[in-house]
Amino acid sequence: SIVIWIMVGKQGRQWRSMCKGLVLGTLLTSCMILLYCLSSLQDRGTFPEVPVPYSCAHRPANSPPTTNGSDPRPGAPLCSPKVDVMFMKTHKTASSTLINILFRFGEKHRLKFAFPSSRNDFLYPAFFQRSQVKDFKPGMCFNIVCNHMRFDAAEVAKLLPADTAYVTILRDPAELFESSFHYFGRTAPLTWKIPGEDKLREFLRDPHHYYDPEGFNAFYLKNLLFFDLGQDNGLEPGDPRVDQGIRAIADRFHLVMLAEHFEESLILLKDALCWETEDLLFFRLNERKGSTVSKLEPELRAKALEWNAVDWKLYQHFNATFWRKVDAYGRQRMAEDVEELRRRNAEMAALCIEGGHAVEATRIQEKDMLPWQPIGEKSIMGYNLKKNVDKRHRKVCRKMLMPELQYLTEMGVNLWITKLWGHVRDVINW
Ligand SMILES: *[C@@H]1O[C@H](CO)[C@@H](O)[C@H](O)[C@H]1NC(C)=O
Ligand SMILES: *[C@@H]1O[C@H](CO)[C@@H](O)[C@H](O)[C@H]1NC(C)=O
Repeated sequence: SIVIWIMVGKQGRQWRSMCKGLVLGTLLTSCMILLYCLSSLQDRGTFPEVPVPYSCAHRPANSPPTTNGSDPRPGAPLCSPKVDVMFMKTHKTASSTLINILFRFGEKHRLKFAFPSSRNDFLYPAFFQRSQVKDFKPGMCFNIVCNHMRFDAAEVAKLLPADTAYVTILRDPAELFESSFHYFGRTAPLTWKIPGEDKLREFLRDPHHYYDPEGFNAFYLKNLLFFDLGQDNGLEPGDPRVDQGIRAIADRFHLVMLAEHFEESLILLKDALCWETEDLLFFRLNERKGSTVSKLEPELRAKALEWNAVDWKLYQHFNATFWRKVDAYGRQRMAEDVEELRRRNAEMAALCIEGGHAVEATRIQEKDMLPWQPIGEKSIMGYNLKKNVDKRHRKVCRKMLMPELQYLTEMGVNLWITKLWGHVRDVINW
């Protein structure tokens, strides 16, 4: 019997994780079925086509009047800030940092956000439908859409003024794949059977062996950018539909930012939307602890790019357009503006952040400041708000540091499904 106990001890861990797997699988499946039923119920009443008003902003009282040209007051802005923005929030691309910028900009100008209801995304990975918008009624117009969704251009357009600025962000597909594998891998059952400690390496050794395009959550592991942008992530890179997809994205989006050049991206955003530098201030949110970020060695990186060849093509296309925009802006001017933005961010960090930098999840004191963690991990870092921030900066500091879910709650979004899921994970200690 001693032998049996030793075996049980050894296999305990495996059993535990298998049981967790079963519980998770069952829960996910029930959730999906429930959500599917809910969404198909909602779809039954198709909405009449009511044209969207030209603009729907609660215009701020102090918005600068549009100048005539005849009376250019010195120092007066030559344009007024663009407030209608569609931000296509892609996964694992620093988009949480950008969404925090948008939340603050929206609050400053008292803009109307199209939020999802009961969770923090628009029933992702299903395609976006305007019926998923909280309190939606036909003909309703919004200023900002920025939560996770699977993009559907025609459907999104029905919520927003015609001259809305469309913006999204991409990231190097090898890095993105590594990050997505880390963050979402465990939610895709096809990874459960990958043997060994280094599942990423084993998966990339022979992806066709492990990958199942029909598998639950499989899209997280192949061409995730192309998928998020509403395209087919299973295409071969040579397929003409890939080029068509890229062209459609290029036609729709006014600015495609790059996570690797986040500050430059923000300067281009400010330039395109006539914002102020103050609007761009940020702290990096939702970042992973350095020790769990594996640097992909060249061979693995090459395999990851080959596996995500469609995203790689997409990335290269928009990398080229990005640097053309930087050239048009002026390289020297860009360098100076980035320098200024970094300086002002550092000033804010010194003002707001206890210790001046991000800390591990276990060292975050306030629950309001604790970011959502991936399954089975506590790898996402967060911040402690400095204790003695002066009154003038207290509010802005808090908002700049606040993780997405808490901020959404503060803006009136009821996240019961997301929260329920969090409680379930607490109970089974995942
Ligand atoms: C601006 O132009 C409008 C008409 O285009 C005119 O009525 C108005 O007086 C002008 N305002 C100024 C300050 O020149
Ligand atoms: C992006 O474009 C720049 C400028 O043309 C180039 O130097 C760089 O190698 C490109 N990167 C990728 C990943 O294509």
